[in-house]
Amino acid sequence: MPLADPESAVFHRKLTRRLPVAVRGDGAWLVDAEGRRYLDAAGGAMVASLGHDLADVAEAVREEIARLGYVNGTQFTHRAVEELAGELAEVLPAPLRHSYFLSSGSEAIEAAVKLARQLWVERGQAHRWKVVSRVPSYHGNTLAALALSGREHYRRIYGPLLTSFPRIPAPDPYRDPDSPGSSGAALEEAILREGPETVAAFLFEPIGGSSTSLRSEFQALRESMCASSMHTTRFAFPPSGTSGSFALSSRMSSMLVFVEPSISS
Ligand SMILES: Cc1ncc(COP(=O)(O)O)c(C=O)c1O
Repeated sequence: MPLADPESAVFHRKLTRRLPVAVRGDGAWLVDAEGRRYLDAAGGAMVASLGHDLADVAEAVREEIARLGYVNGTQFTHRAVEELAGELAEVLPAPLRHSYFLSSGSEAIEAAVKLARQLWVERGQAHRWKVVSRVPSYHGNTLAALALSGREHYRRIYGPLLTSFPRIPAPDPYRDPDSPGSSGAALEEAILREGPETVAAFLFEPIGGSSTSLRSEFQALRESMCASSMHTTRFAFPPSGTSGSFALSSRMSSMLVFVEPSISS
């Protein structure tokens, strides 16, 4: 395959297309080396939502790097991380308080899934490991995140490397608002089919982006989960949640809910 940019030593994400060289950002715009301007309407992959060229953000980063290059999280904490976690704790719905910082959404998903597994092992329920996720969906490109993503063209050649988790249809409130994926019935059916005692968590995008519709489904999900409380209790939902736990990716766009058997089941 001939490389589009044979001079470059970078292993580009697209090998057969010469990529424009981005030289600066200007608010919601990107400017390339030819002076062409691109409206960065989605903030890259929804990560640069504050825009570009922000003097106060650049100054805060500069100050912090000037003060500390790196500290290992097993040996030290530091002011910036404590302040950020403190600010988040003020806006997180109770009982959530602690933040675990990672560098990417994929890493956050991996950590959240491992945390769910660890929770059950420590509670003496090592038989719980399955994470139910939806198709379509996107949770990242590392192996577990990819295994949990419903994006077939990303997964195709890696099949044997991907753990097989139960998957259910994602909601389609525009075309099919009453589908089992939209109503939450698919989730309950999957938990029953898999055996509620084997399910560790449910992973979904509460705010759709690259894969699902944009509509928030908190209400429908909360209702369906309450309805299926015979099998699942303790779910946390940011708008009003007061029980259970969830983990958010760095993009704040994935949610992992720990599934727990009801005492009455
Ligand atoms: C919902 C969701 N979770 C996880 C990820 C993966 O994030 P990252 O690309 O930072 O690894 C993405 C990326 O688009 C995402 O949209």
